[in-house]
Amino acid sequence: MIRVPELIERKRNGGELSDEEISELILGFTRGEIPDYQLAAWCMAVYFRGLNGRETHALTDAMIRSGETLALGSALGRRVVDKHSTGGVGDKTSLAVGPIVAACGVPLAKMSGRGLGHTGGTLDKLESIPGYRVELTLDELVEQVREVGLAIVGQTGDLVPADKKLYALRDVTATVDIVPLIASSIMSKKLAAGADAIVLDVKVGDGAFMKTLEDARILAEQMVDLGRRAGRDVVCLLSDMDQPLGHAVGHALEVREALETLAGRGPTDFTELVLHASARLLALSDLGVDVEEGRRRAEAAIAEGAATAAYERWIRAQGGDPDPDVLPTAPVVRPVVAEREGIVARLHALPIGIATLGLGGGRRTKDDAIDHAVGVVCHAKRGSAVAAGDVLAEVHARDDESAARAAETVRSAYVLGDEAPRGHGILLDVIE
Ligand code: URA
Repeated sequence: MIRVPELIERKRNGGELSDEEISELILGFTRGEIPDYQLAAWCMAVYFRGLNGRETHALTDAMIRSGETLALGSALGRRVVDKHSTGGVGDKTSLAVGPIVAACGVPLAKMSGRGLGHTGGTLDKLESIPGYRVELTLDELVEQVREVGLAIVGQTGDLVPADKKLYALRDVTATVDIVPLIASSIMSKKLAAGADAIVLDVKVGDGAFMKTLEDARILAEQMVDLGRRAGRDVVCLLSDMDQPLGHAVGHALEVREALETLAGRGPTDFTELVLHASARLLALSDLGVDVEEGRRRAEAAIAEGAATAAYERWIRAQGGDPDPDVLPTAPVVRPVVAEREGIVARLHALPIGIATLGLGGGRRTKDDAIDHAVGVVCHAKRGSAVAAGDVLAEVHARDDESAARAAETVRSAYVLGDEAPRGHGILLDVIE
């Protein structure tokens, strides 16, 4: 039996733990044999001393072994792909990438989470679609992926229970923002869900976990390494989250924007990221194509209407109504106008996320109910030229009072200047 105080002390002093010690620590904690306060102290020691690659792998492996695992590829007899984003403001990428990849004949199965704080979760966006079922049994999931090539569901409690418990503990002990703990948390869930190839999207900027490109690269490299050690193909995109992605932020608004994008009418930055992610997924699939050909096929799926058709098949298969006219709408729409002529020098993502949260479109605690209709549409983005009185953004709210409050926050997100800001594209780097 391990002596937990010794392990905490060794990590606190900068030492290493063996694979067996990490395994016993995590599995003992999951079974309730090791108390929260000891794991909390260990996480804080890791915050200051870190984990090396082997220890991070041992932690990920122990978390996977704490619950069930799926082998989707062998159940379907095909290579199955998955995608994951570290979360940002207006990030509806999976809603567009899933149908594009499915339209190209590649099965995609994704287990998704709910949003917390200023970032929205894919499941919350999908639940704005009337009738959409986020819970499928394992058999239903496999059957749906076989039949329509795509399923996005909530994560079952049987998968990686250690992460559920550990994340809740980290959340209240200031130990969430630790790269090896984030890497093992994300990758344990992705690896346990059984995809053969995974495209990760690490967001970088003021609206994301990772504020700098350097930190994002370190996280990306650790996740790619964990995938490699587990024998899976993993590619990590690093993408800009200094401003919201696309125009729409808020659940039903984002579903509409994803649908517009599938029809070829999406915002430039969002469309670009969707095409990058889709091309990478197709290149990792069993189609045998390279990234350029993957992109060509993704573009064709949009242009020929196959991506929209795949979206409709998928939503119907999961019990939902794919007609955008049935999505909820907010009763109050309030414009935020430019007070002067200029060029948008900055559009901070974080206040847009916070404004959406204040409108009722996000959760402060995990049991909060959310309003799917509300949000913000940022018409002007970084680099847009505006005249005084032009609409910068629109707030979609439940009532006038919350609309007025959100409008002030949205106004504070915009910085107008006189010169075009130095631009960069949505994709900042790719780690393979
Ligand atoms: N997302 C996760 O799933 N886990 C983390 O630790 C951070 C972000």
